[in-house]
Amino acid sequence: MLPEFVKIVEVGPRDGLQNEPVWVPTDTKVEFIRKLAQCGLTAIEAASFVSPKWVPQMRDASQVLQQVGPLPEVRLSVLTPNLQGFQRALEADAQEVAVFAAASEAFSQKNLNCSIEESLERFRPILEQAKGLDLPVRGYISCVLGCPYQGEVAPQAVVELAQELTRQGCYEISLGDTIGLGTPRKAQCLIEAVAQEIPLEQIALHFHDTRGQALANLYAGLEMGVQVIDASVSGLGGCPYAQGASGNVATEDVVYLLEGLGIATNLDLPQLIETGRFICDAIGKPSQSKVNQATP
Ligand code: HMG
Ligand code: MG
Repeated sequence: MLPEFVKIVEVGPRDGLQNEPVWVPTDTKVEFIRKLAQCGLTAIEAASFVSPKWVPQMRDASQVLQQVGPLPEVRLSVLTPNLQGFQRALEADAQEVAVFAAASEAFSQKNLNCSIEESLERFRPILEQAKGLDLPVRGYISCVLGCPYQGEVAPQAVVELAQELTRQGCYEISLGDTIGLGTPRKAQCLIEAVAQEIPLEQIALHFHDTRGQALANLYAGLEMGVQVIDASVSGLGGCPYAQGASGNVATEDVVYLLEGLGIATNLDLPQLIETGRFICDAIGKPSQSKVNQATP
């Protein structure tokens, strides 16, 4: 049961750049986001309002958002780990925010410096305030198919977290395979378990390609009817607090796959390839997208 349309959430400006050691100037980030919008992307994660000591690359998040300004048909979202981040996001006129929890206790400590339970307590007031402002909130769950510190993660832990984030008011749950440990059958079992408790339409897949499994895992999800996929042009990305994490699945490769399956995306693949090259040139890295590499 393949879907007819898949929405891509482009996470390149946030997940793609957050782990880059080379400072990417604000102007370049702004141009990157504008180019992504020109590709037809309507959901772009533009930055994160986390501690600048923890993730220095995102310290200009406010300037990035303000310089980009509102773009027609595009919703610019940002990560907010706590009320302080949420306040900064509001001041910068973010159009959507995302809270991020982990299904692994060890990873929660590394990434947020608190337990899973404490992170949920921090999200509660964000979701309450966002509700009053009619601001959509997305919920991430990391380490859904395994953790770099803890190893195995029980699907039930992911299910319970997805239920709690949905109860708090998240309109969508993005399942993160943070260090790309998953394989298709495992991914399918997890999606099946989560979809028993929250509607399938509210599930997004956020797969890193560390072990080359991301496209196969996504295909497994598509066969189940998943309609939202997170991706990053040129396959940039990785969490600085997840040992061994590398790039997100490349947007170009996902779009090529979807087009081949006859699934609509409303995206311009040649322009995505060009944008993938633009950001790679800016950081002095080759594109990790196979489709990009194969295109003259
Ligand atoms: P902490 O050190 O426990 O925070 O970090 P604190 O509340 O004790 O504050 C310490 C200092 O940070 C204070 O400043 C605060 O003002 C400041 P000081 O008094 O020392 O000058 N601070 C902030 N500044 C700006 N914005 C804020 C903020 N909060 C505190 N929002 C904290 C706790 C959550 C802040 C920290 O752990 C943090 O920033 N973590 C974020 C790590 C991160 O960004 N990871 C990558 C994103 S998640 C990801 O990539 C996974 C995902 O892609 C899905 C997947 O792949 O699985 C989403
Ligand atoms: Mg990620």
